[in-house]
Amino acid sequence: MDIELRQRGRASMDFLVSFGRAMSISEAQLNADIARAGIVPEDLPDDLEELNTAMETALADSHALHMRDLVFEWTSTRHGAVAREAMEEILDDIQPQLRDLSDGSTQITTFPHFTPPDYLEGVEIHRTTGGWDGHPHQGLIHAEMVHKRYVTAMYGGGIFNTRRAVLDNLPRKDYRRIFEMGVSSGFHTLGLAEAFPQAEISGCDVSRAMLEQAQRVANERQLKWKLYVGCAEDTRLPAESFDLVSSFILLHELPAHANRAFFAEAFRLLEPGGAVIMTDVPPSREHDKLTAWRYDRGAKYGGEPYWREAGLLDTAEIARDCGFVNVRAFKEPTGGNYWVTIGEKPL
Ligand SMILES: C[S@@+](CC[C@H](N)C(=O)[O-])C[C@H]1O[C@@H](n2cnc3c(N)ncnc32)[C@H](O)[C@@H]1O
Repeated sequence: MDIELRQRGRASMDFLVSFGRAMSISEAQLNADIARAGIVPEDLPDDLEELNTAMETALADSHALHMRDLVFEWTSTRHGAVAREAMEEILDDIQPQLRDLSDGSTQITTFPHFTPPDYLEGVEIHRTTGGWDGHPHQGLIHAEMVHKRYVTAMYGGGIFNTRRAVLDNLPRKDYRRIFEMGVSSGFHTLGLAEAFPQAEISGCDVSRAMLEQAQRVANERQLKWKLYVGCAEDTRLPAESFDLVSSFILLHELPAHANRAFFAEAFRLLEPGGAVIMTDVPPSREHDKLTAWRYDRGAKYGGEPYWREAGLLDTAEIARDCGFVNVRAFKEPTGGNYWVTIGEKPL
């Protein structure tokens, strides 16, 4: 979609990016404060809560840490509202474009048994009011404003490339019936469509607002995806009806029991010989302690309520427990900070 903001919306989005980038000043100072405080990473506790307390005690006098917290707090709580306001300014102008794009071969169906899961009750993910369904146009706001204009500026364009590149790690190139868990606004779905142009693609998400954006993305490209509002762990779609099940950055947002259930449902949905690929952030044991602490603190401010418990999981072990074979879990080799888990359903 080609969306042009008004001057005020553009200015506030640009300010958001500048404010976030300004954090790099305090980052260098924080490193100096860590060195001056004589912190020895190997001596720090493994437990993330204890680690955080130890760091806060050692850095009690660090202005850089307080500045970093302040910037994190402001951007975490404000980014969603700034993006929403910028989008609301132009919503009337783009209504015809939105109407056109909702009409096409990609349609959205709600699973008849769907009820929103308890673990998302009251969870305002990313500290956005109402979370993924917080606004009737949350998908549009998240994809076009937060993701394309803010996240990309902060973390680089690689975040989009990885959504496609990660699929090169799969054992086969000929998948024909693909199911994606946690479609959201369809960025990874596009990667699947590009990697496997012959495949029929289906997917689900608990948020209709996000799926409506995925629908626009697909219709704009004349793609025919089957999108479902529903929980990925309880699709009730026929067993063995797919040869690839994929997710991208879904796992870290959900509790451990839901993560296990995603792998179990993927196993049920796959035909023998099919594969699962789940890509997410690396588990905390893959980081050195200072990096684990930085991520954990970022997750607290950034509104990632299940970050810690999901980060303790061993996804390879979960996949094997569900029956997958040839299981591999590794850091995505083309870059970025992604952890890939692949398994195959035995023939
Ligand atoms: C970080 S987004 C996924 C990003 C997306 N795959 C991409 O590549 O941009 C996480 C999504 O998972 C959805 N979600 C949360 N719990 C879910 C569940 N139990 N089943 C399916 N989707 C879920 C959220 O609504 C949200 O859209």
